[in-house]
Amino acid sequence: MTQPKRYLITSALPYANGPKHIGHLAGAYLPADIYVRYLRAKKEEVVYVCGSDEHGAAITIQAMKEKTTPRAIVDKYHALLKENMHDLGISFDIYHRTTEPIHHETAKEFFTALHDKGDLEKKETEQYYDEEAKTFLADRYIIGTCPVCGNHSAYGDQCEKCGTSLSPEQLINPRSTLSGHAPVMKLTTHWYLPLNRHEDFLRQWILEDHAADWKANVIGQCKGWIEAGLQPRAVTRDLDWGVAVPHEKGKVLYVWFDAPIGYISATKQWAINNGKDWRPYWEDEGTKLVHFIGKDNIVFHCIIFPVMLKLHGNILPENVPSNEFMNLEGDKMSTSRGWSIEMEEYINDFIKKENGGGMMVDALRYYLTAIAPETKDSEFTWKGFQDALNSELVAIFGNFVNRTFVLMHKLCNGKVPPLTESILDETDKKLLADILACKVSVEKNLEAYRFREALFEVIDLSRKGNKYMQEKEPWILAKETDEKGLPVVAAQQRINNCLHICLQLNANLSILINPFLPFTARKMCNMMKVVEKMLDWENAGKKNLLSTGYSLRAPELLFRKMEDEEVTAQIEKLKIKSKKIMEESNQESAKPIAETPVQKAIIEFDDFAKVELKTGTILNAEKVEKADKLLKLEVDLGTEKRVIVSGIALHYQPEQVIGQQVVVVTNLAPRKMRGIESNGMILMAEDASGKLQFVQAGGEANNGSTVN
Ligand code: MF3
Ligand code: ZN
Repeated sequence: MTQPKRYLITSALPYANGPKHIGHLAGAYLPADIYVRYLRAKKEEVVYVCGSDEHGAAITIQAMKEKTTPRAIVDKYHALLKENMHDLGISFDIYHRTTEPIHHETAKEFFTALHDKGDLEKKETEQYYDEEAKTFLADRYIIGTCPVCGNHSAYGDQCEKCGTSLSPEQLINPRSTLSGHAPVMKLTTHWYLPLNRHEDFLRQWILEDHAADWKANVIGQCKGWIEAGLQPRAVTRDLDWGVAVPHEKGKVLYVWFDAPIGYISATKQWAINNGKDWRPYWEDEGTKLVHFIGKDNIVFHCIIFPVMLKLHGNILPENVPSNEFMNLEGDKMSTSRGWSIEMEEYINDFIKKENGGGMMVDALRYYLTAIAPETKDSEFTWKGFQDALNSELVAIFGNFVNRTFVLMHKLCNGKVPPLTESILDETDKKLLADILACKVSVEKNLEAYRFREALFEVIDLSRKGNKYMQEKEPWILAKETDEKGLPVVAAQQRINNCLHICLQLNANLSILINPFLPFTARKMCNMMKVVEKMLDWENAGKKNLLSTGYSLRAPELLFRKMEDEEVTAQIEKLKIKSKKIMEESNQESAKPIAETPVQKAIIEFDDFAKVELKTGTILNAEKVEKADKLLKLEVDLGTEKRVIVSGIALHYQPEQVIGQQVVVVTNLAPRKMRGIESNGMILMAEDASGKLQFVQAGGEANNGSTVN
C-alpha cells in the first residue's frame, strides 16, 4: 500500500481464563509492542489495541474448575493480565474487555448487519447433548479420542496434542466434561457463516495479492485451508455466557465471532477516552491494520474475520504477522501441564524483587526477541537466557555504554569533547557510516516484521563501537604526556575525537534500541541529560545529537549478570511446579468437573439478611399422589401453621418425620407443586452421597424462633 495515513495495530485478545506465559508474550505482544514503539518514534498516527477475551467455554469451564462464576473468573484474570502486560512494558493504547456493554452492542450490531443482508445461513443440525446436565456440548464441553493422533483427551474444537482443529463429531468415544457420560445427538438450530461463498475472494486476496508480503508460514496455513475446501462455520452456540444472539433465546455468539470484533469495540472505547473518531480506523482505506497473533489463531484472522470485515464493509488487515511456538527447556510450553514460565512468575522473581528500573524487563524482552520463533519453533532455556544477558547485553552493549561514559569522565572532564574534522581517519569515518547503515537496516527489518534481525543489527552496532574503541585505545593515548605530565595536544585531539564519536554512537544506540528495550533507552537519556524527545526516530543516524561542551552524568548500570545459581534455581522450580501440577491433574481428570462440589459466588450480608428463617415442628405428613419425591407437610411455626411441600419422600416415610424439629425459610414466594400451594421450604443438609438430614436448631428452641 502507499504511505498509510494511520496505523491500527492489534495483539490477539488473551482469554481471561488464567495467567499467560512468556511464550504468549513472545508471540503476539512483544513484537507488536516493538513495532508500535517504532511507529510512535516515527511520529506516525498509531493506535495499539488489545483486551481480554472474556467469553466462550474457556471461561465457563475455568469457572467450574475454580468453583466460582464466569464473572468472577474474568474479573480476576482481566486485572491480572492487564497488570502483567503493563509490568512487561507492553504499551497498549487501550486494554479493553469483551464483557463491556459497548462490545456487546458492537458485536450484536455486526451480527445483525450480516444477518439482515442475508450473509448468514440458518441451519438445523444434530449436535451432542448431555441429558444429565441438560445442555448442548459445544467445543470444550466435549472430549474424546483424537482421530489423528489418538490423544484420549482431545477437545471438541481442537486436539491440543497434535494441534488438529476438530469438530465434535470427529471425536472417537466422545464424553461430556460435565457429567462424564456419553452424549446423545439432538436437533438444534444455528447461524452459519458460509465461508464457501467467499473462496474466490480469499484466494485472490491471500494467495495472489499478499503472496509476497505475508509470512510463508501464514500463507502456507491459509493455502491449506482454502485447498481443503471451505465450509460454513457456525457462529452461534447454545450457551448462556457470551454475547446474546439478537432475538434468539438461550443462544450466544460463538466466541470466535465476537472476540475479533473486540478490536473494533476497543478502538471505539479508545476514541471515546481520547476525544477521537474511531471510524476512519476501520473504514478508511488509508488505515494500515496489522494483527499480531500466535500461529493457532491464523485461520480466524486470515480467513474468518476478513470475510466478516468484508461483508460488514470494513477495511481488511494489511498483514497478519504470526509467530510459531516457543518451546521451553526441551518441551512444549504449557500452562496446564505446568511446563511454563508465567508472566507473573517472571515478574515476581525478577522484576518486583529489584529496583532495576526495568533492567530485567528489558533483559527478557531482549532474549525473547533474540530467539523469536519468527519462521520456526524456537526454544527458551534459562542457560540461553543467561548467555544472552551476560555475553551480549552486559558484555557488548552495556560494556560499550559504560566504557564510553567512564572514559569521557576520566579523559574529557565529564563533557562532550570537541571533534576535529581535519584529523578524522578511515576508522572514524567507517564507524560514522555504520551508524547510518544500521538505521537503514533496522528500519527495513522492522517494516518487514523481522524483529530478531533488527535487534541483531543494533547489538552489532554496539559491538562495532567496542571494536572501534579497542583500536583507538584512548587510555594509551592519554599516556603520551608532555614534560608537564599533560597529554600532548595531538594525542588529546585524538582522544577527543574517539570519545566524541563514541558518545554520538551512544545517543544513536539509545534511539535504535528504544523500540526493543524502552527502559534502557530512557536510562541512557538520563545519563546523557537529554529529554526523551531525542529518541524520535528522525534523529537516528545524526552525528551531532550531543553538543560539544555539554556535561553528562555518571554511567548507570544498564544490565546485571545472571548467576549460575539463578539458572539452576529456575530450572528446579520449573520441574517441581510441573510435577505438582501433573499429579494434581491426574487426580482431577479421574472425575468429571461437575462432580466436584460447586461453590457459590460470595454474597453481601444484605443478600443473606433477605432470607427469613424460623424454627418449627412437623405436625402432619402425607405422600403427594403421583409424585414419588414429594411429601405434603403441615408445620407449626408457633404463631401459625403452614403447608409446605418438600422433596424428601425418597428419604423419609411420612410417619418418620411427624414431630420432627425443622428450620424453615418462611419468606419464600409461594409455589404450586402438583396442585398444592407450598408456603416455605424446609432446610436439609445433603452430603456428597446425596443423603439428606434435617437441619435443626438443637436444644429446646420454641416454634417460631428466628434463625440468624
Ligand atoms: N482468545 C484467543 C486465544 O487466546 C485469541 C482471540 S484473538 C481475537 O487464542 F481476535 F479473537 F480477539
Ligand atoms: Zn491429536
